[in-house]
Amino acid sequence: MEILAFGVQADEKPLIEAAFRGHHEVRCLDVFLNEDTAPIAAGYEVVCTSVNCDLGNHVLQTLAAGGTQMVAQRSTGFNNIDLKVAERLAMTVARVSSYSPYSVAEFAWALAMAVNRRIVRASTRTRDFDFRLDGLMGRDMHGRTAGVLGTGKIGEAFARIAHGFGMNLLGWDVAETPACMQLGMRYVPKERLLAESDLVSLHVPLMPETSRLIDADALKAMKDDAILVNSSRGGLIDTAALVAELREGRFTGVGLDVYEAEAGLFFLDKSLQAIEDDTLARLVTFPNVLVTSHQAYYTEDAVGQIVEATLKNVLDYKEGRRSENVLVPRS
Ligand SMILES: NC(=O)c1ccc[n+]([C@@H]2O[C@H](COP(=O)([O-])OP(=O)(O)OC[C@H]3O[C@@H](n4cnc5c(N)ncnc54)[C@H](O)[C@@H]3O)[C@@H](O)[C@H]2O)c1
Repeated sequence: MEILAFGVQADEKPLIEAAFRGHHEVRCLDVFLNEDTAPIAAGYEVVCTSVNCDLGNHVLQTLAAGGTQMVAQRSTGFNNIDLKVAERLAMTVARVSSYSPYSVAEFAWALAMAVNRRIVRASTRTRDFDFRLDGLMGRDMHGRTAGVLGTGKIGEAFARIAHGFGMNLLGWDVAETPACMQLGMRYVPKERLLAESDLVSLHVPLMPETSRLIDADALKAMKDDAILVNSSRGGLIDTAALVAELREGRFTGVGLDVYEAEAGLFFLDKSLQAIEDDTLARLVTFPNVLVTSHQAYYTEDAVGQIVEATLKNVLDYKEGRRSENVLVPRS
């Protein structure tokens, strides 16, 4: 069988090809699956997708009409897939329920420390042989308070690093994680976490209950000099409201690896085009904001594990096995 993989990055391709060798052929495309590209999948029983692929009603209907029976998503989050439609179309959907949480947690910390210690500005200056320190003052993390919204696998890994810095830990989640409590984390209501934290990091999944979790009121509840990091999903933050607060000169730093309208932008080279998204264009002008394009997971370790799990998901589908990765089972 030949599988069609959408949205494959250049350094991901050899890993995918090596993993599938001896099992199934894979045709890797750098384009993302969307309404325009869905017809390419005609005749492919299995398509392999990534976070910024669109698997809404229209695309799923096109895939089903072309004979696709399985979607193997190369990520943990699946908010881009309409599972109800997939089920109605009798299409199996599997994702990668877990892989190195350290990849994302360590990157969230890279963002936090980069904005805190003004690393990007410092690097730009030294390339210009400007060795002044003005405007580069940061703050110790030791003794300050980290607020972790979502204390699952990634949130726990983030909290462990915060603990290593000697920070006080506040948590907010629908379920308490014993390992976090052993680190001294206190679970508090969201409002209290936002009001008391010097660093707020988001690690909940995007779902209707968490959409715009950080809205205008939540941003106003935060300390003026707090650091906000989002390495989970862009839709957790009302970005227009964030821009309004930044315009008021609030926040020591904001590190965003995800953006609510990132599909169609992130993972693509848009450097020669006019950016039509005014919110994103404004966001990147703030000196205290750092935006990266959904790269937190992008380590050899995590991508290797994602590819291995995706292969296993396809083999399980072919051989009629179920696993914790299956979101819509084979009917
Ligand atoms: N930027 C990236 O490259 C990248 C990579 C992987 C994952 N992610 C994001 O990180 C998220 C977290 O991943 P994880 O592996 O830690 O997931 P996880 O399932 O281990 O943890 C999620 C936590 O959120 C909590 N939660 C769920 N719904 C909630 C709600 N309504 N209110 C409060 N808490 C709630 C859960 O109880 C759980 O503790 C993913 O959903 C994904 O969106 C981003």
